[in-house]
Amino acid sequence: MKKILIGSYITIAIIVIYAVTNGQLFDSKKSKAISAGERLYNENCLACHGGTGKGEGKRAGTAINNQHFLNSISNQDLFNYVKFGRQGTDMPAYAKKLSDEDLHNLVSFIREWQTEKISLEAPTTITGDPERGKGQYNLYCLSCHGEDGAGKIKMGTALANPQYLKYTTDRQIWTATAFGREETRMGPSLKGLEGARQLKKEDISDIVRYIRSLEKTK
Ligand code: HEC
Ligand code: HEC
Repeated sequence: MKKILIGSYITIAIIVIYAVTNGQLFDSKKSKAISAGERLYNENCLACHGGTGKGEGKRAGTAINNQHFLNSISNQDLFNYVKFGRQGTDMPAYAKKLSDEDLHNLVSFIREWQTEKISLEAPTTITGDPERGKGQYNLYCLSCHGEDGAGKIKMGTALANPQYLKYTTDRQIWTATAFGREETRMGPSLKGLEGARQLKKEDISDIVRYIRSLEKTK
């Protein structure tokens, strides 16, 4: 009886030690990825996206540390955005320069800037009239995002960009338009929020259909 008891104590002790060291192993693996990511960020991205991702870098990269942005994208989206870049803008593609492991490390580092969990609601199906959307776009968005979503340096991003559209869902375009990006020039557009535009949900859906229609012409 005593032997069995000692035996089970030993088993429990082994399980506890295993769990603790495994946890530490996991933690140190994670913090290694983050510090490797930080190094890569400082070497490759800081000049444009700024020290804390605020986009205050000398070469006018966007703000990638705001909570609305971080809450609207998955790690896979971030990975793709960096790997494939945005052709025709200042955002380079890193597919050749950095390995997939480097990119995963960068993603781990950028994800550390997310301090809040926010759910950004959008309609389940985003249907609408792209022609009407174009009218709305020209009124409310063109001044910063340029004609046909071409983008304007230091004003607004290129929404017609093929890589942006390829790796971004309608829902993500909708939530970026509706809720904006805190602490950037991209204010909210949805009626009821503190923004200059006060657009109805249907207006935003029309605009999303218009932006999506720009994909084919590229
Ligand atoms: C005053 C200038 C301004 C106006 C007007 C404006 N935007 Fe923006 N928009 C920006 C900026 C700047 C960003 C990038 C923000 C950042 O740094 O993350 C942005 C980002 C976005 C994004 C995310 C793009 C990306 O690359 O992830 C979408 C989508 C968007 N805007 C849609 C719209 C739509 C639709 C309208 C009109 C209803 C609009 N914006 C009006 C300045 C503007
Ligand atoms: C030469 C300047 C420059 C460098 C270097 C650069 N970026 Fe960018 N980045 C930009 C610009 C400009 C955009 C917005 C492009 C557009 O859509 O008009 C952007 C867009 C992005 C986006 C998408 C943001 C959004 O709102 O959708 C991410 C994520 C990003 N960059 C991450 C990185 C990372 C990580 C690195 C380093 C590995 C990096 N960038 C290096 C200029 C740069």
